[in-house]
Amino acid sequence: MRDAMWAIGIVLGLMLIAVVVKGLLSYAHTYLTSRVAYKVITDLRNDMYYKITMAPLNRFAGEKAGDLISRVIDDVNIVQGAIASISTVLRSSVTLVVFVTMMFLKDWQLTLLAIALLPLLAHMIRRFGERIKATSRHVQMRMSDITSQLQQTIFGIKIIKSFTAEETEIDRFKETNWQKYRLMMKRVRMRALMPALVEFLTALGIALVFGFGCYRVLTGKLSTGWFFGYIAMMGMVFKPVRDLGNFNAALQQAIASFERIKYVLDMSEEPHDDPDAVELRDGIKGEIEFKDVSFKYGEEPVLKGINLKVAPGERIALVGPSGAGKTTLMNLIPRFYEPTSGEVLIDGIPVRKIKLSSLRRLIGMVPQEMILFNGTIYDNILFGRPEAEEEEVFEAAKRANAHDFILKLPKGYRTVVGDRGMRLSGGQQQRISIARAILKDPKILLLDEATSSLDTESEKLIQRSLEELMRGRTTLIIAHRLSTVMNADRIVVIKDGRIIETGRHDELIAKGGFYERLCQMQFQ
Ligand SMILES: Nc1ncnc2c1ncn2[C@@H]1O[C@H](COP(=O)(O)OP(=O)(O)OP(=O)(O)O)[C@@H](O)[C@H]1O
Ligand SMILES: [Mg+2]
Repeated sequence: MRDAMWAIGIVLGLMLIAVVVKGLLSYAHTYLTSRVAYKVITDLRNDMYYKITMAPLNRFAGEKAGDLISRVIDDVNIVQGAIASISTVLRSSVTLVVFVTMMFLKDWQLTLLAIALLPLLAHMIRRFGERIKATSRHVQMRMSDITSQLQQTIFGIKIIKSFTAEETEIDRFKETNWQKYRLMMKRVRMRALMPALVEFLTALGIALVFGFGCYRVLTGKLSTGWFFGYIAMMGMVFKPVRDLGNFNAALQQAIASFERIKYVLDMSEEPHDDPDAVELRDGIKGEIEFKDVSFKYGEEPVLKGINLKVAPGERIALVGPSGAGKTTLMNLIPRFYEPTSGEVLIDGIPVRKIKLSSLRRLIGMVPQEMILFNGTIYDNILFGRPEAEEEEVFEAAKRANAHDFILKLPKGYRTVVGDRGMRLSGGQQQRISIARAILKDPKILLLDEATSSLDTESEKLIQRSLEELMRGRTTLIIAHRLSTVMNADRIVVIKDGRIIETGRHDELIAKGGFYERLCQMQFQ
């Protein structure tokens, strides 16, 4: 009696220990596989962001932002799912190998019969896998469309509303979303059908084995006990086979996504610096020279034989009809694009031969539309020179005529502006942009004057802050206002990619050429 109780006690104890060990192993399994999967996708996203940030500007010309976002977010998630189930696959493979080996050792003829259907099964799984991959590719493309439209809507909500296009946009979104739904359901049907077919083929295998096994038992070649043991082993093999089939489906989905990820990882980077590239020091004079510069984006030349020398501290106004190539000309200075022929030089050094980071550090840009980042006003100004002290940020804001209005905001410098700075007026956004450029304190300034007209009061404030910004810097300004061209040292008129006239305002007016006509049309 005592012995029996002991025995029971030991068995119960062992069972408890087994449960604890199993729990620990299951914890370790979940923890380790998740860790691997998360680590991989975190690295993957970092690499993708790096590539997107390092890509040259022209890489983005034909790119939809939403598509890139979808690749970084959704496709990486799908890959994560497949990575996480790799351990299940390993476990299933081991189980499969162990049991099939045992079955072979027990009765190889019976086992050959049992796996006779395997090639058929493999073929089926492969065919399903291919179709799942193709469908997944389409699902992900629709996902990109959804992200793109969402992003465009959020950015362009004002336009949509002003054209009362809400209904059309909603319908368009619904259509894409339902298309994605239908594709996903198609994939679900394939993914659900496969286990059923696997099960059917397995059952067929078992039936064959059962019949042949019974025959062997009846003819005395196999004992009844072993026969049932054998059938039990076959049952154990069923789950791993199904798991492998399911994994294949997930894997095909992940491969379709990985192709889309690879597209981002394969994006080209901006050209690396020449080995003998020089570092531009703060002491540069800031002379800019275009020497016989021509440029084309595609087939059509956009700039043709540009020769222009800008003296240190000189202020040049670029004018010309829309599409003449003004912005393009400016983009060549910070080397956003490379000239097709000819050279751009700063202080006599070709920009190709200057370290890219040092080149761009000396150039300040105030773009046409004011770009504010999601963050506080303080951070937005600080972006100009992240190592600047607080006092310097305030000083820059004062010089840009922004300090006073910032202090009037409920949270002052800590006011958060959305990605598009919607909370601020156009003029206020411009002044923040100017403060940022003042803080950066660049030697060369590139301004694309805003076309949107502001009220006179605001206009005057902007004008005063721009004056403050331009003082003592070599400035190229794409001018849309009469006051700007009047204040320029020299006006450069660009038409069809060529410089056709240069001079001061009154000189060009007196000449009665293209500029005079442009003036009559543009600055009334
Ligand atoms: N990324 C690009 N890829 C291909 N073509 C471009 C690209 N950017 C501009 N272009 C083309 O180059 C020409 C010059 O464009 P650019 O932006 O330099 O004109 P712009 O003088 O600044 O005009 P606007 O006064 O309207 O701003 C245009 O015909 C335009 O279609
Ligand atoms: Mg332009």
